[in-house]
Amino acid sequence: MEAKITLLPGDGIGPEIVGATTKVFDAIAAKYGHTFNYSEHLMGGIAIDEMNNPLPEETLGACLESDAIMLGAVGGPKWDDPTAKIRPEQGLLRLRKELAVFANLRPVKIFDALADASPLKPERVKGVDIMFVRELTGGIYFGTPRGRETTADGLRSGFDTLRYDENEIARILRVGFELARQRRGKLTSVDKANVLTTMQVWREVAHEVAKEYPDVEYEDILVDAMAMYLINRPADFDVVVTGNMFGDILSDAASMITGSLGMLPSAAVGASGSVGLFEPIHGSAPDIAGKGIANPLATIMSGAMLLRLGLGLEDEATAVENAVSQVLADGHRTGDLGGGEAALGTDAMTDKVLEALD
Ligand code: IPM
Ligand code: MG
Repeated sequence: MEAKITLLPGDGIGPEIVGATTKVFDAIAAKYGHTFNYSEHLMGGIAIDEMNNPLPEETLGACLESDAIMLGAVGGPKWDDPTAKIRPEQGLLRLRKELAVFANLRPVKIFDALADASPLKPERVKGVDIMFVRELTGGIYFGTPRGRETTADGLRSGFDTLRYDENEIARILRVGFELARQRRGKLTSVDKANVLTTMQVWREVAHEVAKEYPDVEYEDILVDAMAMYLINRPADFDVVVTGNMFGDILSDAASMITGSLGMLPSAAVGASGSVGLFEPIHGSAPDIAGKGIANPLATIMSGAMLLRLGLGLEDEATAVENAVSQVLADGHRTGDLGGGEAALGTDAMTDKVLEALD
């Protein structure tokens, strides 16, 4: 196939890890007879510096015209002031909204070879394989009205709106149920229906959608309890579906179960035909940017998700995932994976993946 892939390296280690991933794409293209055409664009802090806009129109246009988007990371200390008018995060939120990628898939899986990296006891993490499905274009991160105002007593106050309509709820749950069918057949919906009206609607709709999938085991869990269960019985979960904010928080917590943030990929997808956005879970790691030591594997694994979900190339995606497992099983480690003295840098680790692909 011929495909257009937009590259948004972004900030910090972004350019290094996206560069590593395009090498893997090139190897896949050569091996399976595909042509991938890349176009690289500014996004995040670097786009603020150069264009005074974290998501320049030109970047958005290129994204909308492509078949899939590979994002590195955005942000860094230079743009960290949360009260600044223009921030890298705004670019990311707007990109998600414009692409209408409402489903954020964040797999949290323990690689056997890395089981000892977890801060949890080995018996707790054995077999952990969770697919987080976070609603990504609605909820409190987008709700209006929002703003700041001064109260009658002269106090500064701020407010945001948590709103979901039944269509938004049903479509994200359906993504989860479809995935559960291809996995271990279990779905957990996380809400706060005991307190929030929005979440009562969420639970009501979740129960209705669950009836369409009688073959999937369904449960709902309150978000506070879920935070606890993720730590004391993470292996019990298969697909976990939740709203934007709860998903943001819980998926960060869950990522730590593996102990290797540098390994976790993600995909943001919308209705069929829309352009998917693929990026590692980790940030821009400004402290190690430009040193050639960043772990490229989360981005490479996000690249595998791009091949599978963005381009429909299942065998190619599996080949990349197998190559990564192989490299880890062979004992190759970057610094963040405890490589110590013998740690491989970004290029050397990427070369190992390319060798394993061969
Ligand atoms: C994430 C990030 C973003 C979010 C930020 C950078 C806007 O935390 O992808 O989880 O909150 O969604
Ligand atoms: Mg987050």
